[in-house]
Amino acid sequence: MRHTLTTLRQQLASGRKISMLTCYDAGFARMMDEAGVDCLLVGDSLGMVVQGNDSTLPVTVDDVCYHVGCVVRGSSRAWIVADMPFGSYQEGPAIALRNAVRLMQAGAHMVKLEGGAELSETVSLLVQTGIPVCGHVGLLPQRVHAMGGFRVQGRNEEDAERIVADAQALERAGAAMLVIEGVPEPVARRVCEHTSLLTIGIGASAACDGQVLVMHDMLGLTASPARFVKDFTRGLTATEKTDGIILQAFRRYVQEVADGVFPGPEHVYGVSSGKSEAVAYGGQNEASAAAGKSKA
Ligand code: KIV
Repeated sequence: MRHTLTTLRQQLASGRKISMLTCYDAGFARMMDEAGVDCLLVGDSLGMVVQGNDSTLPVTVDDVCYHVGCVVRGSSRAWIVADMPFGSYQEGPAIALRNAVRLMQAGAHMVKLEGGAELSETVSLLVQTGIPVCGHVGLLPQRVHAMGGFRVQGRNEEDAERIVADAQALERAGAAMLVIEGVPEPVARRVCEHTSLLTIGIGASAACDGQVLVMHDMLGLTASPARFVKDFTRGLTATEKTDGIILQAFRRYVQEVADGVFPGPEHVYGVSSGKSEAVAYGGQNEASAAAGKSKA
């Protein structure tokens, strides 16, 4: 049976955290289902890891619809979240609704938008139309140029407060889930304490209700992954390897997320006021990103 928002909440209430991975095709969707991954995100990260771009900006609604179709056909258990790509929702609620409808007709169960309070009206219209919405706060990859690269967010009190306020505004507008990306642990914790959204962290610590990683990162296929990434193929035993490295890596991820073992302290950003820390993205090295050699 497929997950619903109700079964995801029940699972969390029973003490098992929610696992989410990005997924772009039917073959991997089938394996993730078999491994028990709860949610599959057809992320606009496909622009980087599948299409080879330097950012997620070139991804179109047509691109996401195509990959949603592949993922839905390959899975029968996971809850499917589709990213609304750059430019498909910022113009206003009516255009956002038109594009969200296309993603839902392609088979998605929920759409995800990057941003905060400024999207309240849009989120509200989608939810009233019957489209479940996932927000996305903290590091917003679609704003890479405005942010000066992929950088940890919420490192000073003003930014941290804004992130919490954005999460609360999204909840008031009717969002059900929230991705929190690239923020220090105390900021993620504050968001979780001040909203009742299902919170899914990426580089946001184990304070969240669940975790998401880009599939290519957690399978060790990315050259210089960010600190928050763990390579789940590392240290598999010979028997586990013959049973299928990728399936085993997915299983380990599900178990470690469910138990709250991943992310560990080594995958978490600290607070250091005023300092902006680069996040390795799409294979970019964290040291060169920090030195301002941003690909984006
Ligand atoms: O597009 C994506 O893969 C995402 C994750 C990084 C959360 O939005």
